[in-house]
Amino acid sequence: MVRAMNEQSSPERRIVVGVDGSDQSRLALRWALRQAELTGATVQAVIAWHYPAMVGGYGWAPVPAMDAADFGEVAEKTLAAVLADEADPASSVRVTTSVVEGIAAQVLLEAANGAELLVVGSRGHGGFTGALLGSVSQHCAHLSPCPTVIVRAGAKE
Ligand SMILES: Nc1ncnc2c1ncn2[C@@H]1O[C@H](COP(=O)(O)OP(=O)(O)O)[C@@H](O)[C@H]1O
Ligand SMILES: [Mg+2]
Repeated sequence: MVRAMNEQSSPERRIVVGVDGSDQSRLALRWALRQAELTGATVQAVIAWHYPAMVGGYGWAPVPAMDAADFGEVAEKTLAAVLADEADPASSVRVTTSVVEGIAAQVLLEAANGAELLVVGSRGHGGFTGALLGSVSQHCAHLSPCPTVIVRAGAKE
């Protein structure tokens, strides 16, 4: 309990945001950057990659020609491209990136340890059309160790 309180008042001010390259994850990133600007937190943009889940996962990867190592590279480039589009270089917000091999929900929940906020989009690239929440955002909502924001497309930024 004491430890939990100490963690809450620790000087680390980190907002974790999950980016899979989808438009919804771009919205989540924009929301996280804006929140960080308002609160003085840093933003940790995380992309998780995982060989089986990646097949068709980013919607454009030429899958048969790629080996497992390349998927990490694709993920890294995806994250860099999204950040180049969405992060204002003139902003004072400090942004770090993490490219992590693993199951997306597990990776995000792990990153959220000690963070002040976890931000994800309501949907991503995959999943069932018509579902309100994707499986990654559902897992995060249920299991996140910190307050969690699920940014829905169409929400005001
Ligand atoms: N591989 C990933 N790496 C980082 N964040 C992810 C990843 N996959 C999903 N997310 C986050 O979770 C949100 C919801 O995605 P998801 O639950 O996978 O929905 P869907 O089922 O539509 O793909 C995304 O907008 C993104 O913020
Ligand atoms: Mg998904």
